[in-house]
Amino acid sequence: GSTLGSAASGTGRYFGTAVSASRLSDSVYTGILSREFSMITPENEMKIDATEPAQGQFSYGNADRIVSQATSQGARMRGHTLAWYSQQPGWMQSMEGAALRSAMLNHITQVAGHYSGKIYAWDVVNEAFADGGSGARRDSNLQRTGDDWIEAAFRAARAADPNAKLCYNDYNTDDWNQAKTQAVYRMVQDFKSRGVPIDCVGFQSHFNPNSPVPSNYRTTLQNFADLGVDVQITELDIEGSGTAQADNYRTVTNACLAVTRCTGMTVWGIRDTDSWRASATPLLFDGNGQKKAAYTAVLDALNGG
Ligand code: G3I
Repeated sequence: GSTLGSAASGTGRYFGTAVSASRLSDSVYTGILSREFSMITPENEMKIDATEPAQGQFSYGNADRIVSQATSQGARMRGHTLAWYSQQPGWMQSMEGAALRSAMLNHITQVAGHYSGKIYAWDVVNEAFADGGSGARRDSNLQRTGDDWIEAAFRAARAADPNAKLCYNDYNTDDWNQAKTQAVYRMVQDFKSRGVPIDCVGFQSHFNPNSPVPSNYRTTLQNFADLGVDVQITELDIEGSGTAQADNYRTVTNACLAVTRCTGMTVWGIRDTDSWRASATPLLFDGNGQKKAAYTAVLDALNGG
């Protein structure tokens, strides 16, 4: 294939990007988007603060604009995200206990229901585990409603959209030897053994010199896949430039290609200037929309070279 999407498609996979509704009026941006990408994740527009800014009042305008873009270019959608400790609207931040649990479930039912049939995979729960060596859940108002909040979220999502793949999504879960990775693995293993509806695990994969691509990255992806779930690289970006950055992108792409159940990968933005950490120049296109060495490395890897 001559584009990321077509080359990935040749391997039975998708190649996606995060999209910001605020950039859909930029023709350089939409030109690259529609040419290269076969999957779209809204960068912020499906988050809780965006879709339910006041309790019980749902707001889908920007997210719907991104879904329309996906439809018009023949791309599919990843939904991001239904339950998260962060980017909660003010009303939810101040809730706790049974009322919060019920508000979370209603949010999932409404939003996953609104998009039912239009989402390939939902990040149902995002970033629920703590960093560091504890392997514990991350403290949050959602966690304090009870340990079963994650499985409750997955069951509500399945009921609202039976055809979407339901993913758990997190960062710093790339290194097999990290406590956080092991803790997520045990949760997925437990969910599979008890029939909690989970279909996939998303590895955000935000890499930088302090958090480089681990040498056992492929092993991590394979070990999760062996639990009977798909794995996806969901928010890839790699700080750097030139050959070193290209080599890291090649390594990540080849890791996904080596794992049958790695069904696709998504970069977290199009041009470096679109990135949430633009100064790290972590993406595949420069600020002018030109292909970087990292782009060529990914495309060549997808094409089997
Ligand atoms: O839209 C408002 C604008 O009206 C306002 O003037 C401005 C002032 O701060 O803020 C704008 O909203 C910002 C939004 O990005 C859009 O640019 C928010 O403040 C800012 O917090 C938000 O950051 C997003 C971040 O998630 C929030 O947690 C990033 O764009 C987004 O890339 C980032 O994505 C996360 C994933 O969801 C989960 N994994 C990690 C990843 C990177 O942090």
